[in-house]
Amino acid sequence: MREAVADDRSLVERPRMISAAKRRRPGLLRRLAERRSPRRVKVNTALRFYHEVVGLDHLHYGLWNGEPLTLDGLKIAQDRFSRHLLTWIPDDVRSVLDVGCGIGSTAHLLKTGGFDVEGLSPDPYHQAAFVERTGAPFHLSRFQEFQPPRPYDLVLMSESAQYIWLDRLFPAVIESAPGGYLLVADYFNVNGDQGPRGRSGHPLAGFMADARECGLDLLRREDITDRVVPTLDLAKTWVERYVDPCLDLATDHLARKTPRLVRVGRSVLRRWIDKAARLRTLIDSGNFRQEKQYLILLFRVPR
Ligand SMILES: C[S@@+](CC[C@H](N)C(=O)[O-])C[C@H]1O[C@@H](n2cnc3c(N)ncnc32)[C@H](O)[C@@H]1O
Repeated sequence: MREAVADDRSLVERPRMISAAKRRRPGLLRRLAERRSPRRVKVNTALRFYHEVVGLDHLHYGLWNGEPLTLDGLKIAQDRFSRHLLTWIPDDVRSVLDVGCGIGSTAHLLKTGGFDVEGLSPDPYHQAAFVERTGAPFHLSRFQEFQPPRPYDLVLMSESAQYIWLDRLFPAVIESAPGGYLLVADYFNVNGDQGPRGRSGHPLAGFMADARECGLDLLRREDITDRVVPTLDLAKTWVERYVDPCLDLATDHLARKTPRLVRVGRSVLRRWIDKAARLRTLIDSGNFRQEKQYLILLFRVPR
């Protein structure tokens, strides 16, 4: 059943156990931002776009196996990704908390596979889609504030760990699945890039160090970077085919139809064009390979 090749590098150094997870005080900047932005649940428009407009059921990368770089190819690769992840669930697991559950496609697979599954996301759009798709309990919350109503056997984070503050992630896992497991699939920064590319994904060294410090034990690890990057190559073809020509059309239209507004319009367009250029860097698979690793990680959680 398992398709991706297991990573033969040795597991990251075994964690030392500590009695209780430390709670660190958030930094000043984050406390100020939190005070100014008390909205903790909100709709993420980009993720909604992928589901509603592009028609994707899964909101994560695909695990490719030679499919053509098309929307249908992506759907097959995304489905393979989720099914592969489920083969990692240890035999003694019954209940799963799907943290950052998106629109419930992985939870649906879990439920069909006989697991007792609950979803969690801070996005009301995901809440509606998840409940409709799975009929399973859903928690509208960020994980860092979640008060688990019961212990779970496993916490699943399928491309959602990167959204959760690192200093709250492992303590929240221990509260939700004491003595259970944490299964993570996500990309991590490996080279300390400080630019826009370094903004998404936790630094791998920091993630592993925090896991160790909180007493989590890494049981298994697999590097699937090479098999997920075609997702970015596909995104690049879409940007070249749709985004770039639209920007050219808009620039041309503005120059001809609104010559008096052209200066203002140009500065707005300039910003769009700069954004599109940044987007191209972010979705460059060569850059991704250099700066990131896409990993599946299974941890044992302390009590
Ligand atoms: C890239 S999507 C992945 C969705 C789904 N797990 C999948 O694999 O298709 C990221 C998910 O994380 C959720 N998320 C964002 N911030 C979060 C937070 N602080 N706590 C929990 N989930 C969060 C988003 O709402 C979204 O459901």
